[in-house]
Amino acid sequence: MHVLITEPIAQKGLEKLVQEGAKVDVKTDLSRKELLEVIRDYDALIVRSNTKVNEELYQKATRLKVVGRAGNGVDNIDMDGATNRGIIVVNTPESNVVSAAELTIGLLIASCRNIPQLHTRLKGKVWDRSGLKGMELQGKTVGIVGLGRIGSLVATRLKSFGMKIVAYDPYVNETRFKNLGVERREKLEDLMAEADILTIHTPKTKETYGMIGKEQFKGAKKGIRVINCARAGLINEEALIEAIKEKIVASVGIDVPDGEPQATSPLLELDNVVVTPHAGADTVEAQDNVGVTIAQEVAAALRGEMAPNS
Ligand code: MLT
Repeated sequence: MHVLITEPIAQKGLEKLVQEGAKVDVKTDLSRKELLEVIRDYDALIVRSNTKVNEELYQKATRLKVVGRAGNGVDNIDMDGATNRGIIVVNTPESNVVSAAELTIGLLIASCRNIPQLHTRLKGKVWDRSGLKGMELQGKTVGIVGLGRIGSLVATRLKSFGMKIVAYDPYVNETRFKNLGVERREKLEDLMAEADILTIHTPKTKETYGMIGKEQFKGAKKGIRVINCARAGLINEEALIEAIKEKIVASVGIDVPDGEPQATSPLLELDNVVVTPHAGADTVEAQDNVGVTIAQEVAAALRGEMAPNS
């Protein structure tokens, strides 16, 4: 079992792979050209979100049997291409959801209270709160787009702040809404018109790409705050910037600006935008969970056993 790892995973995960009998190469600084050259030697490839696993790679990967996505989203992996070649793709959908939900709450509070802006002023030895009055969460309405694993964790946590929670998710049944105490909105437009804060938690698919754009911002509640800890592209960045400039959007908290892994998004230039570099899963706990789980999944799949998240 010869496994190539192209993005950092936790030491515990590496140890697990070795215990499982794999020969592991961690090569996190390969250029694309180098990756395409070496991939032919490997039975399995483990990636996070930066490595594009696509047709170009599959054509060179003559030995490849398993792709492990150390994390949740598989939008960087050509799933059809893998299926056509009999390559199994495994991921770790549960392992980092708490960390992602917690960062969502962090960015939400940071952007509603201007924490980074105040921090920067004071670190610069300027004691000045002017122009940075925040917004209290209690009594406000949060609109959640996508009430899956992470969206649900965000909902339960925001309830404790005394917020009203409404959600748009055509794929989730009534029982989950009821159990979480969340009100369903049938249309995204209705949710946007009502929400003081919008947070999105959908995977990136053909259906969800650009689902919040110019039209949706036009009908949004004036002063809405927007949080995206899911994926770049779900919210059209150009439309978001326009909505900020038109003062429809009061503030933004975003973990996934366009251009990843380069810091090129024009959002970075705006004062009322709080950003992190796709750090939702970057906690010790989540990375240990992800590392160990992906190691188990990849080893099981290579042995031809049923991998739970394939
Ligand atoms: C995920 O999909 O699990 C997260 O975005 C975290 C990551 O890619 O590392």
